[in-house]
Amino acid sequence: MSRQIAILPGDYIGPEIMGAGLKILAAAAKITGFDYETTTYPFGGSAIDATGEPLPASTLAGAQAADAILLAAIGGPKWDNAPQRPEQGLLAIRKALHLFANIRPTQVNPALVERSPLKTEIARDTDFVIVRELTSGIYFGEPRFLHDDEALDTMRYQRSEIERIIKAGFELAMQRRKHVTIVDKANVLATSKLWRKIANEIAPQYPAVTMDFEYVDAAAMKIVTHPTSFDVIVTENLFGDILSDEAATVTGSLGTIPSESRGVSGPSLYEPIHGSAPDIAGKGIADPLSMIHSITLMLRNSFQETATADLIEQAATATLHAGIMTPDLGGTATTDSMTDAIITEIQRK
Ligand code: NAD
Ligand code: IPM
Ligand code: MN
Repeated sequence: MSRQIAILPGDYIGPEIMGAGLKILAAAAKITGFDYETTTYPFGGSAIDATGEPLPASTLAGAQAADAILLAAIGGPKWDNAPQRPEQGLLAIRKALHLFANIRPTQVNPALVERSPLKTEIARDTDFVIVRELTSGIYFGEPRFLHDDEALDTMRYQRSEIERIIKAGFELAMQRRKHVTIVDKANVLATSKLWRKIANEIAPQYPAVTMDFEYVDAAAMKIVTHPTSFDVIVTENLFGDILSDEAATVTGSLGTIPSESRGVSGPSLYEPIHGSAPDIAGKGIADPLSMIHSITLMLRNSFQETATADLIEQAATATLHAGIMTPDLGGTATTDSMTDAIITEIQRK
């Protein structure tokens, strides 16, 4: 059975890293026999240019009908003052497909521990996951307005939205080191107080899991002082956005970290957590690792395709051990030369 993958390359470095990732997937699939088909759709700024909309109806329909969705990155200065921004398309696809659980792993690869901006003894063995609520909170709350002299955003959460994301965090912790940290601002925010209440109601259903609470400001500090103290962080939309860029940096570069956005049913969407990196677009130096890891996450979680995922990951790690990496990690490789080196490793197996 051929797996259907919807491909959304997006903008700036998006098509560069998507191209790299798909070349690597093709090389690995040829060896393992993983059977898949891709269909590419316009999305983000490039879709605005082509159709006037960041999320054309045909793109949404194609994504909805696929077995999994791969997105690279959207946005950039070209559309900063456009009537519609590319980012609206991203929020719209997350909402339309009910992708409420955004899983953002932070793992320090031993091959990259020296590349962390943190001291090696602090960064080493870091392995935690941020479970970010993705379809509610201040990103979506109403009312909202922007006037010349006043603006309003609303942070709103329903009990059902909090319950399902906290449960997703506990379920993930059951497969890991059984430690959940709820990150909030319950000393100030009403929504956070409701999160704590609901977390305390749900925790007894998972007696094997240890739960603690951390205020978001203190958690931001602890991510750089004691990153190994975390296993699963569960948090609301905006806090998760901010903390995940910070956490990614601990691994050496924002350009290495993937994510899965998961709904109740239907396809998951896999994408790097970073953006379209307009500052390096067109230079051929974008780090393809975030896209490669998004692909291996897809292979594991949507297709149970462990052999293909392992093959790609082992080849990527061998390439890093050989010192082949892009400038964000302190190396001199280009996107293409790193991709070719990984493919050579894949073919060596
Ligand atoms: P960014 O994440 O694009 O870039 C931040 C920094 O990280 C830049 O210096 C960039 O060069 C570097 N970087 C990011 N990915 C890299 C990679 N793979 N290899 C090497 N270096 C990498 O953030 P930004 O510049 O604030 O945002 C640019 C645009 O991307 C904005 O329009 C923003 O809204 C959008 N954005 C989109 C997504 C998405 O598509 N999911 C996520 C975040 C931001
Ligand atoms: C991310 C991005 C998006 C977000 C933007 C581009 C809307 O920063 O996926 O982390 O804030 O969710
Ligand atoms: Mn972000």
